[in-house]
Amino acid sequence: MKEVVEVNFVCLGNICRSPLAHGVFQNLVTRAGLDNKILVSSAGTSSWHTGDPPDNRMRLTAQNKGIQLKNRARQFQSKDFDRFDLVLAMDRSNLSELRELAPKSISEDQLMLFRTFDPKSNGDLDVPDPYYGGERGFETVFQIVERTCPPLLKYIKSHFLNAL
Ligand code: 4NP
Repeated sequence: MKEVVEVNFVCLGNICRSPLAHGVFQNLVTRAGLDNKILVSSAGTSSWHTGDPPDNRMRLTAQNKGIQLKNRARQFQSKDFDRFDLVLAMDRSNLSELRELAPKSISEDQLMLFRTFDPKSNGDLDVPDPYYGGERGFETVFQIVERTCPPLLKYIKSHFLNAL
């Protein structure tokens, strides 16, 4: 069990899906009074958007639901596995990129697919990449993230913090 848990959400660009998961999950953690126990961040497997704010379409979708996205894109580094207790890949392609970067010593519960926790995944484990699509794709991403974050928080509390 841990005193503090560090969680990192990872997608390809770190401007759409992982910033949304970062913002929605942070909001949940804050409302649960766990800001000093669960540290939340996000990253991308690519460096394409390093330093950029979240995509405007994702930012506006989140803002309409009362969530402010404030991160700047950062590329995930191999050494990040030393720091993060739980790395959550937004799709299977992100997961395989992360596996390439992961040291052999990584523990089984350190790298997981975000949608493992989606109560309505129906076996679909990818958060669809909305970047080249229309507005509806961003709404779909929001709905997946919104319903997946509460079970994820429950898992982190029981698995890492020994809290209810
Ligand atoms: P994300 O979406 O991985 O959810 O941040 C994308 C952002 C940018 C690109 C692809 C996906 N891109 O090709 O630049």
